[in-house]
Amino acid sequence: MIRACIFDLDGVIVDTAIYHFVAWKNLAASLGIEFTEKNNEKLKGVGRMESLDFILSLGQVQKDESEMLVLAHNKNEHYKSLISSLTEEAILPGIKVFFDELKEAGVFIALGSSSKNARPVLENIGLKSYFDVIVDGTNISRSKPDPEVFELGAQALEIPPVEIIVFEDAQAGIDAAKTGGFKCVGVGSAEELSGADILIPGFEGLTYAHLLNQLKQ
Ligand code: BG6
Ligand code: MG
Repeated sequence: MIRACIFDLDGVIVDTAIYHFVAWKNLAASLGIEFTEKNNEKLKGVGRMESLDFILSLGQVQKDESEMLVLAHNKNEHYKSLISSLTEEAILPGIKVFFDELKEAGVFIALGSSSKNARPVLENIGLKSYFDVIVDGTNISRSKPDPEVFELGAQALEIPPVEIIVFEDAQAGIDAAKTGGFKCVGVGSAEELSGADILIPGFEGLTYAHLLNQLKQ
């Protein structure tokens, strides 16, 4: 029986994945590194420093630790300026109705995000009060695809992974959920995502009952 759902944030609940991409692309360009949308797919769900490592290796650029901290800080300042005016309009279609349905069904709602900006984002879009548990980039020491973020969520909920559905738009997040023994719904298309129990294009028109049926098949 499913007793809880853990949601990734960027690209699942809110339309912020594009802002991470814009900020990384800008930083990469300042270093003379080309950074495409295809490259960006690999960074979805991946922590800030790990993402910077990936971009530097793309351009075969070497930086020491203190330089890397400055670059990561600059990317984050740019990202924060892009999300500073986020409102509930950035909530992805169908999410609020789906959350209301989960609440009505007595299913717990948790966040499992790699982002250290998750709490301000949830506050800006007005969804923070829906969450029974929040685990974000400030709580973890290992980034997705490590399952730590979801395991901490399960521990806080006091519910075993097999009774929890993880919703993820990133391959790293799907891999994390499956490694941790969770049910996993991938949000996106089969061109980008594999290994989830089922894939959905988004939450618009999705009912919880229909989703449970699909997961049983
Ligand atoms: C994830 C995003 O949710 O958070 C990644 O998918 C991002 O793109 C990661 O790098 C870390 O975010 P932040 O806000 O801590 O830099
Ligand atoms: Mg995501």
